[in-house]
Amino acid sequence: TIRRMTVPQLAARKGGVPIVSLTSYHAHTAALVDTVADFILVGDSLGMVMHGMESTVGVPMDLMIMHGRAVVRGTKRALIVVDMPFGSYEESPNVAFRNAATIMKETQCGAVKLEGGKRMAETIKFLVERGIPVMAHIGLTPQSTHVMGGFKTQGRDEDAWPLLIEDARAVAKAGAFAVVVEGVVEPLAQKITESVGIPTIGIGASAQCDGQILVLEDMLGLSPWTPKFVKKYADMSGLMKEAVEAYADEVKSRAFPGPEHVYTNKK
Ligand code: KIV
Ligand code: NA
Repeated sequence: TIRRMTVPQLAARKGGVPIVSLTSYHAHTAALVDTVADFILVGDSLGMVMHGMESTVGVPMDLMIMHGRAVVRGTKRALIVVDMPFGSYEESPNVAFRNAATIMKETQCGAVKLEGGKRMAETIKFLVERGIPVMAHIGLTPQSTHVMGGFKTQGRDEDAWPLLIEDARAVAKAGAFAVVVEGVVEPLAQKITESVGIPTIGIGASAQCDGQILVLEDMLGLSPWTPKFVKKYADMSGLMKEAVEAYADEVKSRAFPGPEHVYTNKK
């Protein structure tokens, strides 16, 4: 039997072979990603990617649960981590526990992720002590976009480094098993990675981290635009455009369905 990657196994990858991760929101893509990923994140980026929202701020709990279930069903190997959506955990450790427990019970995922460093440390500790593994997320935290005034790379000014390093140390001390480090300059990513005993998972944070994550649709070339830190490993938009155009042409010319696609009665 195939056993899923566990939280301690993932945490033990600190400083070793880099951790491979992608997002996924649905069963079929999750099954493909499951063949290569150590963990799969059901990210709240699904609000934009799957549901056309402008930011992750509007994502409700039930969407995270619905997509989380689909990804758990579609996979066997990877650890499945589900994002806690904006508004479901910031208020208090109690509220965070209630919602994190709901996500874990309803989806059967292996861990949750939440955004914030030092300010979330107390909540992270509260959850971990009660059986909920937590992945933290620091640096550029998209749920705070309205406070930060957009998506801004963190640590361009060295004066900001101590606070960001403090964030990483605080979540590690609170018991997070790994930390996503998003949108930070390379030397800061290196300093953060050296400062904590848990794996750092970079996105827009250089190869200095202990692993990497990308939004699947971004790296497949399916998203309408992609930031600088994304490498497009395929042009899926181009392929899909060609395919639907070919289909439309063949429907109109009656070239599709061909004889091989047609049912015949017994002779
Ligand atoms: O929501 C998301 O996809 C994420 C990753 C990009 C880290 O949080
Ligand atoms: Na997210």
